Amino acid sequence: MKRVLQIEPTAFRGRSIRFAVLSCAMLAMPLAVAETVLPANGPSAEPVAELSAVAQLGRKMFFDPSLSGSGQLSCASCHSPAHAYGPPNDLVVQLGGPDLKRPGVRAVPSLRYLEHAPNFSIGPSPETADNDPPPPDDTAQAAAAPVGQTKVASVAKADANKAALAAAEANVPRGGLDWDGRANTLQLQALGPLLDPNEMDNHSADELLERLEHAAYADDLKKLFGANVFKQRELALDEALFALARFQTEDPSFHPYDSKYDAVLAGKATLSEAEARGLKLFDDPKKGNCSSCHIDRATLDGVFRPVFTDFQFEALGAPRNRDIPANGDPRHYDLGLCGPQRTDYATSTAYCGLFKTPTLRNTATRKVFFHNGVFHSLQQVMHFYVERETEPAKWYPQRADGTLDRYNDLPAEVRGNVDVVDAPFDGKPGDPLALNEAEIADIITFLNTLTDGYQSEQSSASTAAH
Ligand code: HEC
Ligand code: HEC
Repeated sequence: MKRVLQIEPTAFRGRSIRFAVLSCAMLAMPLAVAETVLPANGPSAEPVAELSAVAQLGRKMFFDPSLSGSGQLSCASCHSPAHAYGPPNDLVVQLGGPDLKRPGVRAVPSLRYLEHAPNFSIGPSPETADNDPPPPDDTAQAAAAPVGQTKVASVAKADANKAALAAAEANVPRGGLDWDGRANTLQLQALGPLLDPNEMDNHSADELLERLEHAAYADDLKKLFGANVFKQRELALDEALFALARFQTEDPSFHPYDSKYDAVLAGKATLSEAEARGLKLFDDPKKGNCSSCHIDRATLDGVFRPVFTDFQFEALGAPRNRDIPANGDPRHYDLGLCGPQRTDYATSTAYCGLFKTPTLRNTATRKVFFHNGVFHSLQQVMHFYVERETEPAKWYPQRADGTLDRYNDLPAEVRGNVDVVDAPFDGKPGDPLALNEAEIADIITFLNTLTDGYQSEQSSASTAAH
């Protein structure tokens, strides 16, 4: 049997955590067999006991506010374990910095189910080229067609010829961490919030190391990595970031796979009628078409338990969110893949406005949605999906001359990147809505089956009955 997850060997010397792709042979196996070979992901009675010493150190760091400049903010402040490691409140962006008054610029994503996120790449998806290195950057620079409009799945569905498919695939950005995929590993990612002046606000890696040296668990670091670890600054930083990554990788609470939908996939529960109708609409390419981006089945690249994202980037044209203070400056735009948070694609205008498709697991527990937190309920998200093209005046403001300022969170010159090809975005003003109220309600009912904790609810209910 081939490897399943390529977790680092026991010594924990590896510098990056990568998740290998399953061999294609395993795809032939029924789901039930796959379940037995995957690592135990269900909530365990004693999760701490199962963690490696490094991951236990990472856990302490994750919950430690003394690692922030304010002394009050930990990773868990924004990524709350009680909220699927998403935001604990309904703020559009969280507050951080020295006095906890500095607003961030993006909504906080959940940290669950990141274990299958591929490294950032632009080019053919791994379904066709398993472990090929990402193509050189000039592929990106050469990208001519607006990528948002060349969604591979739809091209395939439309039975386009192979050449068109290959051309589209050559331009597909996918993977990486953060809304713009700018970090490839959990280690590199963690340095972001630790140093971000709007977040944990360490002014340098040295300042962070100072804090680690004075942390309650400084001795753990010495025990694990040598008494002199703090004398080797780079090593100490590496190991500390590695510990954070190990915690997020090893602790079952980051990938419990215990939603009702998981129980259904495992044959242990059945969807209600409304949930089943919702799933059908979610899958129907002419209705919701949701599963073309938010994958809900086992996939060719070996993900048996779907994470409801294909990790690809799309421009959906979310309305500008006036509640983000940075947006008070009319010249400020968050362009996702082409900046300003990441800089390597700043000149690739075809990628402006594209953001990573998020998981929909636990989305029903969120209070803010999309990269800019502009939506506050699933109801609103669904109406945006079906009305953006058919009733745009509901979503975008009017200019002084009375014309509609469509896709107003993007500068005019890149608005052509917005996806108008994939259903449900392929309508025109006045067309019938792709989904009616009852159908929207069914999809939302289905989305609620993606909330973790279904099995534990069941078992605690049965325990209570004893
Ligand atoms: C002040 C709030 C805040 C704090 C504190 C914070 N984060 Fe985040 N986190 C965010 C935001 C906002 C994003 C999205 C950033 C982006 O897309 O640019 C994010 C993204 C992430 C991601 C990528 C998730 C994905 O879907 O790609 C990871 C992993 C992560 N954070 C881990 C951490 C860790 C580990 C810490 C502590 C060292 C931490 N965060 C502290 C707000 C926070
Ligand atoms: C063409 C690909 C695509 C299709 C089709 C699609 N989505 Fe999305 N979805 C995305 C992307 C990309 C985002 C993030 C956009 C952003 O933040 O700007 C997103 C965001 C979301 C969110 C917000 C999640 C969060 O954590 O903020 C929900 C909920 C959602 N989609 C549900 C659906 C449903 C339900 C359907 C079907 C009606 C659907 N999506 C169809 C790509 C797609």
